[in-house]
Amino acid sequence: MINYNFNKTITLKTGQQVTLRYPQQNDIDEVLNYINKLVEEDVFILLNEKKTKEEEVKFIQNATQEINDQKGLVIFAFAGEKLVGITNIGKGRFREENNGELGISLAKEFRGLGLGRILINEIIAQAKQYLNINLLILAVCAPNQVALNLYQSVGFHEYGRLPQAVKYKDQMIDKILMYKNL
Ligand SMILES: CC(C)(COP(=O)(O)OP(=O)(O)OC[C@H]1O[C@@H](n2cnc3c(N)ncnc32)[C@H](O)[C@@H]1OP(=O)(O)O)[C@@H](O)C(=O)NCCC(=O)NCCS
Repeated sequence: MINYNFNKTITLKTGQQVTLRYPQQNDIDEVLNYINKLVEEDVFILLNEKKTKEEEVKFIQNATQEINDQKGLVIFAFAGEKLVGITNIGKGRFREENNGELGISLAKEFRGLGLGRILINEIIAQAKQYLNINLLILAVCAPNQVALNLYQSVGFHEYGRLPQAVKYKDQMIDKILMYKNL
């Protein structure tokens, strides 16, 4: 059974401490601010419209439920009171119950410090322990070289490329599909 009190502090190469834990009900304002900043920044994530508080209330409720049911994982990274990163894995359904789909993002000031790698390694270790899956998949925009480098370095392989699948800054760009066997 999963222990919802999971709480782990790591030290980045800058000396800053970051705490990893599951979402809590009182994270709503932080998560709203975090996600809407990424939307404003126009990073290579699917979302390009700001979220509302109500949507984030639901997001945290669903995340909590999924974690407790061992149907998914959402790990938050906090520097002090500030939410600086989120990674998640959602389990597939029915005949794809053995799959999990990975997502990850970090606040701008916390990129390039090794936190992405730490978060991915943590969620993969937890997925093996709790989710009963043996295949991880993800999708990444082709020009997102930083993410591609990270995914390759933790063992993801490209299995497909959907041409011109994503509209980004008024241009159509390719989507790269990747997998990793656990
Ligand atoms: C993609 C992202 C999660 C990577 O996390 P990160 O903490 O910046 O990456 P790390 O510092 O852990 O670096 C891990 C690897 O990524 C690659 N990487 C990191 N910064 C890089 C850069 N500026 N240029 C090229 N590769 C880079 C390297 O392969 C690096 O490994 P190395 O340090 O051994 O060379 C983060 O940059 C991010 O949140 N970006 C915006 C949102 C996003 O694009 N999410 C992914 C959507 S698919």
